[in-house]
Amino acid sequence: MNKSTRQTIFENAKQWVLEAGENIRERMKSEFQVDTKSNPNDLVTEVDKETEKYFASKIRSTYKDHLIIGEEGYGDKVESLDGTVWIIDPIDGTMNFVHQKRNFAISIGIIHNGIAEISLIYNVMDDVLYTALKGEGAYRNDTKLSKLKDDVQLATSIFALNSILACENKKVNEKKIQQLIIDSRGTRGYGSAALELAYVAEGIIDGYITMNLAPWDFAAGYLLIEEVGGKVIQANGDRVNFLENNTIIACNHMVVDELLNKYIELK
Ligand code: IPD
Ligand code: CA
Ligand code: CA
Ligand code: CA
Repeated sequence: MNKSTRQTIFENAKQWVLEAGENIRERMKSEFQVDTKSNPNDLVTEVDKETEKYFASKIRSTYKDHLIIGEEGYGDKVESLDGTVWIIDPIDGTMNFVHQKRNFAISIGIIHNGIAEISLIYNVMDDVLYTALKGEGAYRNDTKLSKLKDDVQLATSIFALNSILACENKKVNEKKIQQLIIDSRGTRGYGSAALELAYVAEGIIDGYITMNLAPWDFAAGYLLIEEVGGKVIQANGDRVNFLENNTIIACNHMVVDELLNKYIELK
């Protein structure tokens, strides 16, 4: 994708994200319906659906040949990353949205011929927009994010993870995760993958470890972290795949080998 095309698409996406955020803030002032999906804790609201519909209609009326992958089903059936694909999570952190009315984000990653080109993660209630354009760095609002530090060590690192990972689970040896909790400086769980990835890019946490994310959870965070020199890979060390669910290790480049070799043992 050439630079000027990328810039134009980004400007549109940014305007739509800010508008969608404004709509969500307004919509929260009145009642909205909350339903469950795969299990009683897997929540979805009318606002998630309305927001995804809003993006789908903006994208379709502006870019007839672009495709959409979205969590709530208003996208296309996408089987390849040829052309331009918008990967959208209208509300990442729906549980936070419902219970806390904060700590949720809109996440949009735009991929062109398989390459992550544009990212936007909008913390709606804090009005903080993280953005990245391929080769042009990452930003938190208008402030360019620094490259991640080279002097980071695991013992003084903070990791975001879902506490369920340290209990018995099917994918990784939980004893090693427990050891990571002991050996690192601290752990956090924010309940929004997109924000946790943005925090890795910002350098306020040093890693985020999770065993099951959908493309809409990590597509935007991927480029944000890549642009500051961090790593986003699958737990077996492979590159991420934007067309399927992935295990995700996102972290400062200085701790990736130690994490994979010492603390992540796949079952
Ligand atoms: C979820 C959040 C959560 C993560 C889950 C995601 P949703 O997304 O990002 O933090 O642990 O794996 O599914 O459903 O709130 O968009
Ligand atoms: Ca969901
Ligand atoms: Ca999500
Ligand atoms: Ca969602």
